[in-house]
Amino acid sequence: MAGFIGSNLAVRLLKEGYQVAGIDNLAYGLQENVPDGVEFHERDIRDRGIYGLFEGVDAVFHLAAKNCISDCQADPIETSDINVTGTINVFEAARLAGVRKIIYAESSALYEGSSIFPTPESEVRPESFYAISKSAAMHFAEAYRRFFGMTFTALRYFCVYGPIQDYRRTIPPVMSAFIIKLLKGERPIIYGKCEKRRDFVYIDDINDFHLLCLRDSRTDDETFNLGSGENHSVLEIYELVSRLLGVRLEPEFKPDLPGEAQMTLADITKASALGWKPKTDLETGLLHAVDYIKSEMAEGRI
Ligand SMILES: NC(=O)c1ccc[n+]([C@@H]2O[C@H](COP(=O)([O-])OP(=O)(O)OC[C@H]3O[C@@H](n4cnc5c(N)ncnc54)[C@H](O)[C@@H]3O)[C@@H](O)[C@H]2O)c1
Repeated sequence: MAGFIGSNLAVRLLKEGYQVAGIDNLAYGLQENVPDGVEFHERDIRDRGIYGLFEGVDAVFHLAAKNCISDCQADPIETSDINVTGTINVFEAARLAGVRKIIYAESSALYEGSSIFPTPESEVRPESFYAISKSAAMHFAEAYRRFFGMTFTALRYFCVYGPIQDYRRTIPPVMSAFIIKLLKGERPIIYGKCEKRRDFVYIDDINDFHLLCLRDSRTDDETFNLGSGENHSVLEIYELVSRLLGVRLEPEFKPDLPGEAQMTLADITKASALGWKPKTDLETGLLHAVDYIKSEMAEGRI
């Protein structure tokens, strides 16, 4: 709830008139990200004491995770503890409270070992500890559906970007990293080959699909890729950020990070068939991300 996608989702849900409660242990998220109007609980998803918080809840978005791939590679035990055990605890809480529907985050990382592009939902080939933890959560969701008749929607986000994206993590997301470095007049770091390509999708477009999950029963018990269906090389992103900021500095090149796929590209046929379409072009989305980072700098947080 206090992270990137959760806090943006909360703002959108409040705007749409929903009542919103949220849980976050603030391990990575920040209290200041939680919008006014949310009933916020600083709790850990692994704590069985959270069960009572699910009473009377209609739908749950489960987004909490340890999700920096290099941090997960460094600590597989905590990765499993949060992303698998924590996820099961959320499913159990929802089961006991009779929640109508759980919408939860998987990841495009599930396709790490695939060489089919664009990648359809059927191509699950996890490799990194992070991706393995997401696939374990997927199997638990299937078992909860099978044995308890619960309703789930699994969302495989590709590279979601926009305001409130967490730039504090060990290896910040590529766009935030470039923006921060260039605004500070420092050389940005590029890991691995510049041809590494990513499918970037803007947070508002993701929220359009979140609303669809609440309102359209065709999303029940289904899994969806949420990307833009286009991808860009890290170098293209660097060039664009550099042009938008009017700052040019030679990037510093470092070896590739472990566990990172060389390419992601979503096959969004399934989500598109429900009428969903990513609307925000890369330049417009990036300008919003730049505005956010600039405001964080003005507040002295960076
Ligand atoms: N952002 C992306 O591009 C992307 C891509 C693929 C998948 N995802 C998935 O989407 C979800 C949301 O991602 P995000 O980008 O908003 O990440 P984020 O790190 O900004 O938010 C995750 C939140 O989970 C909280 N959290 C972690 N451990 C917790 C625990 N034990 N108890 C309670 N709260 C805990 C953190 O404090 C943080 O606020 C994650 O499950 C992530 O794996 C995100």
